[in-house]
Amino acid sequence: MNTSNLDDWVHAVLDEVEAALQRWVPADAPAGLGHAMRYGVLDGGKRLRPLLVLAACEAVDGQREAALRAAVAVELIHAYSLVHDDLPCMDNDVLRRGKPTVHVRYGEAQAMLAGDAMQALAFEVLTPEDGAIAPALQARLCALLARAAGHAGMAGGQAIDLASVGRALDEEALRDMHRRKTGALLQASVVMGAACGHPSAEALAALSEYGAALGLAFQVVDDILDVTQESHTLGKTAGKDEHANKPTYVSVLGLDAARHHACELRDQARAALARSGLASARLAALADKVVDRDS
Ligand code: IPE
Ligand code: IPE
Ligand code: MG
Ligand code: MG
Ligand code: MG
Repeated sequence: MNTSNLDDWVHAVLDEVEAALQRWVPADAPAGLGHAMRYGVLDGGKRLRPLLVLAACEAVDGQREAALRAAVAVELIHAYSLVHDDLPCMDNDVLRRGKPTVHVRYGEAQAMLAGDAMQALAFEVLTPEDGAIAPALQARLCALLARAAGHAGMAGGQAIDLASVGRALDEEALRDMHRRKTGALLQASVVMGAACGHPSAEALAALSEYGAALGLAFQVVDDILDVTQESHTLGKTAGKDEHANKPTYVSVLGLDAARHHACELRDQARAALARSGLASARLAALADKVVDRDS
């Protein structure tokens, strides 16, 4: 796809997602909680997950209102995972999205609560009471998001991550951890977007494979950027994986093999997309962007 076409689409979608987040994340939650929530989710981040939701929805000609809500919900879960990931009891990070982390700015207890409230808000956004989304679709979107966020997905992967500090994982165990902690939510973004339309079972399965390959590629590249980029480019502290003694694709495979593997996964994502028969230039371009990025 022509880069300027993609850029125009990305800008338009990001404006729409930002406006929806501005509208739905409440400033007036009690005792300053709303400020911590808004600080954690507004004005920052690449918003890759919302882009995937909306591109997948467009690929299947799905219902836009439902997809916008799904995009916001996934970003809320992602932002909550970052707020908790940065806490002193987890990765103990002070910089995120180019700003002090939520717990540095608002304190640990408020950061924990902001994450909790963002998670609940995600499911509120998916279940509007005005009939805007059919009950069956609401239930489907909630189920997909809950499974990706919970014990079998992100939270489970984060538990493995913490239990793996200082341990030499083999590639299979590392892949399993990365698929859960990061891949599951990216894959769910694609599948939730697709769920807003009526793709064939074959197309849905292929899109899900696209999401799985892209989701794993994303964390492989995150591991690479941690060693190759500076903190000011990343907007978060560089070099922390080695410092924290975390097993990563770089520590397990080496930098060159990790880079090669990221490209293989991008190719797998593109091949799965081709199998879906949906010919989405936007999803194809997003797979390229996941691997070819510097932050
Ligand atoms: C960072 O995700 C955490 C991982 C899951 C690797 P992103 O790189 O998507 O973070 P933002 O949303 O752009 O800040
Ligand atoms: C985070 O992985 C995955 C999450 C579920 C948040 P990392 O710990 O590598 O993410 P960064 O590098 O801090 O963004
Ligand atoms: Mg972490
Ligand atoms: Mg971290
Ligand atoms: Mg990282």
